[in-house]
Formats: sequence, structure tokens, C-alpha cells
Amino acid sequence: MKFYITTPLYYVNAEPHIGHTYTTVAADCLARFYRMKGYDVFFLTGTDEHGQKIYEAAQKENLTPIELADRVSETFKKMWEKINISYDRFIRTTERQHEEVVKKVFKILLEKGELYKGEYRGFYCVHCESYVNVEDRKNPICPDCKREVREISEISYFLKLSKYQKQLEDLIENSEMVKPDFRKNEILNFIKSGLNDISITRKNVVWGIESPIEEKYTIYVWFDALLNYLSGIGYLHDEELFEKYWPPDVQLIGKDIMRFHYIIWPAVLFALNLPQPKKIFAHGWWVLGKEKISKSKGNVILPQYFIDEYGVDPFRFFLLREIPFGLDGEFSEENFKKRYNSDLVNDFGNLINRTLNLIEMKFNGYVPEGEIDESIMKISEDIYKNYTIKIENLSLSEGIEEIWKLLIFLNKYLDEKAPWREGSIDVEKTLLSVFYGIRNILIFLYPFIPQTCEKMIEMMGLEKNELMCFENINKRYAGRIKIGKREIIFYRKK
Ligand code: MSP
Repeated sequence: MKFYITTPLYYVNAEPHIGHTYTTVAADCLARFYRMKGYDVFFLTGTDEHGQKIYEAAQKENLTPIELADRVSETFKKMWEKINISYDRFIRTTERQHEEVVKKVFKILLEKGELYKGEYRGFYCVHCESYVNVEDRKNPICPDCKREVREISEISYFLKLSKYQKQLEDLIENSEMVKPDFRKNEILNFIKSGLNDISITRKNVVWGIESPIEEKYTIYVWFDALLNYLSGIGYLHDEELFEKYWPPDVQLIGKDIMRFHYIIWPAVLFALNLPQPKKIFAHGWWVLGKEKISKSKGNVILPQYFIDEYGVDPFRFFLLREIPFGLDGEFSEENFKKRYNSDLVNDFGNLINRTLNLIEMKFNGYVPEGEIDESIMKISEDIYKNYTIKIENLSLSEGIEEIWKLLIFLNKYLDEKAPWREGSIDVEKTLLSVFYGIRNILIFLYPFIPQTCEKMIEMMGLEKNELMCFENINKRYAGRIKIGKREIIFYRKK
């Protein structure tokens, strides 16, 4: 079984901020989850490096576009390394291989009669890299970002998007591609209002892939960028790889780029006669006082501060736990701290500290032997079922809520049994059971906070690879277990 997952390719005009990190951490969580289920996973991410926007951003910094792209794509890679993103391939749209695929696709579509030459007259928003309709031609502003737009009138190649109107409607209405479901109507209404063919070359944009037919044209940056999902998995250059993984199982995007992904992208795939992605999930935005967090709004939140202050995993945890995946959410340090103190310090950190301390104190660091309490095995199994459903459904924060049911159960169990009290009975069984309950929790949490789970499993005296497979839920180990060196992982923040 295979699982192919992608993130958008991030523009290299901005360093990675919370927004980019969000999509990528969510994709990482899913990639890890499916690997643990035994799937053969391919996780693709990377950077989008062509187009007028990047060209102008480079000019502002007195750099050539490729110098800017080299520098910023490196900062993305470093950030992903820092926060443990387990991608299989990082693609840059300036790579030769990608450029060749884009040119080949262009030629194929031309030969198939899917493209034609015509004149584009209209408006273009450089910020959104998008052809837009304006309300007031005298004072043209972008309907999405409200910036000034440019009027262009040039000969270009068009993709016959209008031809696919009906097929797109059917696809959106009758498949599971658009997720969450509540996004369907908005997209359908847009399609039903009528689709125009779309210009996929630019005459006066120098920073782009040259058209293979006429060099004076470069290829429209969105057409170029969307094709990464094909070129990054071997299309037209590594058939075996491509056959193995196509189509994408989950493509994560932010709601800002839905039209490109729900309309242009599937139309290109129709034109190429390729199977459609199974799910394209649009998540919401992190906002600050209702404003989207973005470089252009000047309100970026850089991950580094939270990583330094709280750690990589609390940061990953907050992103995935705080808001239901699909909706918008307010990013504030106050919320971050609350989550950190209540969920990670109180519920989670304390449970493991208390349990390991008791095993150390009462049994010299050896996990007692005997029977595991049935109730803990049972609740672990039930939670595994629900947790799997939630995550497969991409309800990531609800997946964490399921895990917390077990955490809360174990904390309560430990409080009630009170194995620290003089004369309490079943001390062995209690500690052994909680020990295995925690081990189950670490397996469940591994896709979300891998580094912490690795540290904790070592503190428990077990091997890291015990974490990486759901079949180990409720597994018993033979022989005596001696717990490892303990340390406090989450410190309360004032
Ligand atoms: N380069 C295009 C995508 C091409 S995909 C073939 C692009 N890049 S971007 O750098 O602007 O990144 C967009 C993505 O970053 C969004 O779709 C979303 O996944 C993420 N986010 C950027 N800001 C965000 C928030 N404030 N909140 C959540 N995610 C947002 O568009």
C-alpha cells in the first residue's frame, strides 16, 4: 500500500513562517502516521521559485532571482530539518529535471490540441500571481489581496479550461477530492459561474521557464509550480516511481490557493488523461486579530521564537492541537502557554514523571511483572480505533483529543490506586499497567511529537523502534525492563 502526500511549494520571497510551517507539520504528521501503518509513503515538499513576484523581490534585495532562491530555499530546508520534517523529496522549481518536465507537458498539451494561441487582455496581480477580474477598470485592484493590479494585453498560449467545466463540476460534486466538505459549494459556485480559458505563458516575464515552442514566452508560474506534483514523483522521467505512487492520496493546501488546486490543477490532469488526486484538503489560516499572518501584512510570527522558548515538539503540538484542521485560528503566545502548561506539563509530563519515579522508588527501577489491567488494554484498543478514524479523516486535533482520553484515564487510575500511599494494594499491577498505558500513548503521539516520544521511550528503558508501528499497541515485552535515565522534559512556564 502506498501513500503519496504533498504540500504546496512555498514562494522564496519570504522566510518560513507559522503559516508555511503549519501545512508542513501537518503533512509530516500524516506521513509518519501512514508509515507506522506500514504504508510505503512518499512525502513531497519544496519551493516555488519563478515568476514576477520573485523577480521583483530579488531586485529589491539587489540579488539575482536565483541567488534569492538559493538562499531562501536553504532556509526552508534548515527549518524543516530543525522541526523534524521527514520529507522524501524537496523539489525546487528551478531544478533542471522539473523544468524539462514542464516543457514536455507544454508540448504534449499543444500536440493534443489542449492549448491554443490567442490574445490575453486583462489584469494581473503580481502578489497573487493571478489573472483577475476587476470591478473598476479605472482604479483596478485585486479582488483577493486588494493590491493594485497591472493591465496586460499580450499574445499568449491558453489552456482550454472552459472545455472541462462539466467534468470539473462532476468531479467536485461526486468525488471525495475536495476536503473539508464545506468547501465544495464555494468552488462549485465559482465553476458554475463560468470558466474562462487560462493564459499559461507570459511575454514580459523573464524569470520563468522558457516555452519550448517560442523562447520569447515564459511559462506562467502557477502552471509551472502545479506540475511539481508530477515532476517530483517521476512523471516523464522515472516511470517506475510514477507508476508506484500516482495519484496523490492527500494534497494539503491553505484555503488561499483553492482555485488553483481545485480547478486549474484537475483540468491539467484531465488534459493529460491522468487520474485525479484522491483528496485535496484546504486548511484554514492562522490569524492575528482576524488578519491572515503573512509577510506582506507585516505580522509574521517566526517559528524560531517558540522553538527556543518552548521546544520543537511543543510548537508542533500547538499547531496541530489548538485549532480543528480546516478552520482558522488565532495565534497568540497566551494560548500557546496555556496549551503547553495544561496539556504537556500537567497531563502528559507529570504522568510519565510520577510513574517512572514510583518505579524507581518502589522497585529499584525495574518495571514490575505480572498482569496488565484489562481496562487499560481495552481503552487503548478503543482509542486506537477512533484515533485512526480521526486521522484518516484529517481531523488531526480530534486525533489528539482521543489520545488525551487515555492520558486522562491513566492519571485518574493512578490517583485512585495511589501506589505511593502506605498499605495500598496492587502496587505492581498498577505501575505495570500505567507503564504500558504510557507506552501506548507514546506510540499514538509519535506522528505529532516524534522527538519527545523518542526521548521518553528511552527513559522507559525501551527501544526507539518500538514507537514506530501501531502493531505494538498493547504489546508485552519479554524479560525484565529496567527504566533508563530520567529527566524532566516539559517545564512549567510562567
Ligand atoms: N507558491 C504558491 C503555492 C504553489 S503550490 C503548487 C504559494 N506559496 S506561499 O508561500 O504563499 O505559501 C502558501 C501556503 O502557505 C498556503 O497555501 C498555506 O498552506 C501556507 N500559509 C501561508 N500563510 C498561512 C497562514 N497565515 N496560515 C496558515 N497557512 C498559511 O501560495
